[in-house]
Amino acid sequence: MNLLLINASIVTMETGDSGYQIQQDQFIVLSSGKISQIGSMQDLPDSVFDHILDCSSKLITPGLIDCHTHLIFAGNRAGEFEQRLNGATYQEIARGGGGIMATVHATREASEQELIEKALKRLSGLIRDGVTTVEIKSGYGLTLASELKMLRAAKQLELYADIKVSTTLLAAHAVPPEYISDADSYIDYICASIIPAAVEAQLVDYVDVFCEGIGFNLAQSKRVFSSALKYGLGIKGHTEQLSNLGGSILAAEMGASSVDHIEYLDQKGVEALAANGTVATLLPGAFYFLRETHLPPIDLLRKYKVPMALATDFNPGTSPIASIAMIMNMGCTLFNLTPQETLRGVTCNAAKALGLEKQRGQIKVGFDADLCLWNIDHPAQLSYEIGTPLLDLRIINGEICND
Ligand code: NIG
Ligand code: FE
Repeated sequence: MNLLLINASIVTMETGDSGYQIQQDQFIVLSSGKISQIGSMQDLPDSVFDHILDCSSKLITPGLIDCHTHLIFAGNRAGEFEQRLNGATYQEIARGGGGIMATVHATREASEQELIEKALKRLSGLIRDGVTTVEIKSGYGLTLASELKMLRAAKQLELYADIKVSTTLLAAHAVPPEYISDADSYIDYICASIIPAAVEAQLVDYVDVFCEGIGFNLAQSKRVFSSALKYGLGIKGHTEQLSNLGGSILAAEMGASSVDHIEYLDQKGVEALAANGTVATLLPGAFYFLRETHLPPIDLLRKYKVPMALATDFNPGTSPIASIAMIMNMGCTLFNLTPQETLRGVTCNAAKALGLEKQRGQIKVGFDADLCLWNIDHPAQLSYEIGTPLLDLRIINGEICND
């Protein structure tokens, strides 16, 4: 199967500092799931193609990548949203047994099929905005069986929707009730049982840790990361979201692909990201929903040329927002990112956050043929206009999706 796109205006998102790299009047050949040729319309090859798509008056970008979500869970936390609006803090609710634990109880009860069905609804929001790859974390099971159930549900979304899924084990999201006064023993269990089982079942690409006062400390985080690395998995962290514990430096020095949230990251932390090639993943949805006021150190990240990714962090507690378009807009309005930075954040830099920078996130020969066609004149519109369906169609592995 091959597909020829003609009269294409391509926003390549090739890495480098020089703008969007828009190329006009191009053709693109997609074959065997990859981008196999790009060139000027004047040099159009005269081979035979299965399908030809005229892209006049469209803009083509790489398929968007949402590199941080918690899409699989049961229940909702609208009640806690109300509690917070009546004065309770996120941390107080968590310490009172609500928060993440409320979702853990509901998720443990749910069947795998129920989890898939609920996640498909949320996923449809992301797909409507042009997402072709989504990262999904476990972390609402906190037992071997229920963490694997979440990861299996996440992987199976690929069977029900046109989407590519990257999975992350976040067993170190909260201390479960079974270990409430013995977090270290829960860490033993993660390292000795959950990580090896997830690896054995081939269900996991990355391991993540919530390194925070209401999560895990530095020593505990280090043990989980070391175990993940021993099994050849990549690592990433929920770090410096509510305070500065030094989790980002730890994760970066251990080779993390990304550290995420980082509102409280300081200069030393930024230097560690720069020195280790770690992506800073910004999550303005959680910042907004928690009414956080402490901004991530955007100017320092720019100064040290740390690649910035942007993601929905879709989850029931801090970011129930299934729209990457809304998040791109928030990246601009709340974090002062430029529309070019937000687009990099959901293409080339998001691919890097998932270790996929040599395959996805750019329009380049040899890369996966995952593309979006948009009914827009300029890429800045993707961060500017909220709610209008701008997407014309998605292409995944060289095939037009049935959205
Ligand atoms: O990314 N910070 C920790 N984890 C999630 C929130 C989880 C929840 O509240 O359910 C986050 O914000
Ligand atoms: Fe998260």
